[in-house]
Amino acid sequence: MQAGIESISIYTSQYYLDLKTLANQWGEDPDKYYIGIGQEQMSVPAPDEDIVTLAANATAQALQGIDAGALDTLLFATETGIDQSKAAGIYVHELTQLPKNMRVFELKQACYSGAGGLSLALPYLLHHPDRKVLIVAADIARYGIGSIGEPTQGAGAVAMVLSTNPKIMAFDLESGIYTHDVMDFWRPNYTDEALVDGKYSIKMYITALREAWQHYVDVTGNSFADFHRYVYHLPFTKMADKAHQFLVRHANAELRPEEWKRQIDDAAIYQRFIGNTYAGSVFVALTSLLDNSPDDLTDKRIGLFSYGSGSVGEFFTGIVQQGYQSHLKKAMHQEIISERAELDYETYKEFYLFKSKLPTDGSPMRTPKHNTGRYRFAGLTEHQRLYEVVA
Ligand code: CAA
Repeated sequence: MQAGIESISIYTSQYYLDLKTLANQWGEDPDKYYIGIGQEQMSVPAPDEDIVTLAANATAQALQGIDAGALDTLLFATETGIDQSKAAGIYVHELTQLPKNMRVFELKQACYSGAGGLSLALPYLLHHPDRKVLIVAADIARYGIGSIGEPTQGAGAVAMVLSTNPKIMAFDLESGIYTHDVMDFWRPNYTDEALVDGKYSIKMYITALREAWQHYVDVTGNSFADFHRYVYHLPFTKMADKAHQFLVRHANAELRPEEWKRQIDDAAIYQRFIGNTYAGSVFVALTSLLDNSPDDLTDKRIGLFSYGSGSVGEFFTGIVQQGYQSHLKKAMHQEIISERAELDYETYKEFYLFKSKLPTDGSPMRTPKHNTGRYRFAGLTEHQRLYEVVA
């Protein structure tokens, strides 16, 4: 028996900022972003979008054509928590009308928690083959106006229905793991913007990749050549180039640049336009690969690396299943990305700063109505968040 992805869908906000607009604002060459970090646009959430609405939209899409009655667990992975106690997944559970006999809770470890959820779900499913698990990862990457991380912001969610009927990808149970206490990127409770030591975080990402990969090789005896494609956590798409170049050298694989780039490039297509989606990033990248690969990936083994600053790294693997193409939501994903509206710099800044205007004294407020998907963050009253379904 095997377990893995029966359905997967991504969602992002309805607005974006082109990074040339940001470059013009800060007097940078746009190519520093387009080429240097490999990012062209960043998704920007409207004031009435948050991780719950992004996640609920991704969940509704992933559940299309799925028997939701077998779901008994929703794991919500995020580092953009909206409450110190209540799991954001409970709002998603209500908005998407999931069965009442479910457990719902939140997972946190920077950008790693989605992959962490997967490592818990797989053995659970193999013990309970009649059940399904929903993993939802949603984040809004915020570094601050004018900060070094600003061009690597983004927003999005991914929802995956996992079961013992993995129509898209079956995961292997063995993986390579690594934990090391470092301060490369973090967000203290008193701020909603991440603090980061940018260059150090890149170094720590590569260190975690080296250690998790080595652990994987020691545990399984597998080697670099056993993988058809590689999918990396993408804080910015150029990071995959840095990571994969390292792995190619480390594994003594003799590949020409066009050969190793072919192993990673299709996975970076969506993120180039969405930006960093933190906990969901490696699965957004996987979706991008599955949706956009010109080759048939059936029966191919894919290597995936998740990195969460702070830090945890995991190298895990899966095999693409026969007939997977007919279960993908490629047209829907491409439409969501291409139909976003472009923002000018002033509106981006206004959207960005809106969060700091939310009342913290319990007084009521309604959020202004913008384009959202099916669900919107309607406002606050008595310290409670209000959500509504858009007609
Ligand atoms: N044309 C082409 N390329 C150019 C260029 C131009 N005109 N100008 C600069 N570049 C290149 C630079 O040479 C550089 O390339 P290399 O990295 O290959 O040397 C690249 O563009 C970036 O330039 P800088 O290093 O000068 O950029 P920066 O100082 O502004 O910082 C950054 C870049 C560190 C990624 C910063 O955006 C940042 O801190 N981002 C947030 C942190 C982050 O994403 N860390 C990643 C690892 S941690 C992680 O993965 C967890 C997570 O999600 C946060």
